[in-house]
Amino acid sequence: MGLYTDQVLPRIIDVACNLKEARPQRRRVCQGLAGDVVEIGFGSGLNVPFYPAAVTQVTAVEPADVGWKLAGKRLRDTSIPVCRAGLDAETLPFPDDTFDAALSTWTMCTIPDLAAALRELRRVLKPGATLHFVEHGLAPDDDVRRWQHRLNPLQQRLFGGCQLTRPIVDLLTQAGFTITELDVYYEPGTPKPLGANSLGVARPS
Ligand SMILES: C[S@@+](CC[C@H](N)C(=O)[O-])C[C@H]1O[C@@H](n2cnc3c(N)ncnc32)[C@H](O)[C@@H]1O
Repeated sequence: MGLYTDQVLPRIIDVACNLKEARPQRRRVCQGLAGDVVEIGFGSGLNVPFYPAAVTQVTAVEPADVGWKLAGKRLRDTSIPVCRAGLDAETLPFPDDTFDAALSTWTMCTIPDLAAALRELRRVLKPGATLHFVEHGLAPDDDVRRWQHRLNPLQQRLFGGCQLTRPIVDLLTQAGFTITELDVYYEPGTPKPLGANSLGVARPS
């Protein structure tokens, strides 16, 4: 993949995604997770300190070896077992109806074929399971959207294909999820084009 993508970018993500603004959002999105959880785009494990005690096991799906290595300390500090068992959310190596819940934080922007990944999530979630998500995406306001379209090519080049213009909630709905909880907001302390967030819970319809 190249030195920048393999070695540098996961370290940038570890720092950029660990800003203090993100932490209350991580706490909120992890609330209610329980049982056997799959986390797609696990990165460097920044959600690990926020897993509720009701989570019995987490299966991490993450392509970046360096991200997984950077997660080491967080993994040692938790009593919840976490294993890395997949590299690509588009093709999940798990049987149907495996997990009680799924978690995705600032990852749906980057997965190249998001529709395939959402199809896979529906397949591996048990009936009645939940998908907890916080994602940045297409802003609700036209003036912010214009900036997002302008910045999108640069964003994709710098951040491993990350897109600013995905309408996350529409894509979840088109993929057959029903949104049961949703908060749409601009992240405090972040420029609006980068911080148009949707935080919520969805269930396979
Ligand atoms: C912006 S980072 C977010 C990391 C982490 N979720 C967090 O909140 O700190 C996006 C993550 O998605 C991962 N990713 C990219 N393509 C992926 C794919 N096809 N399947 C699963 N994860 C992917 C990247 O390696 C990266 O760790």
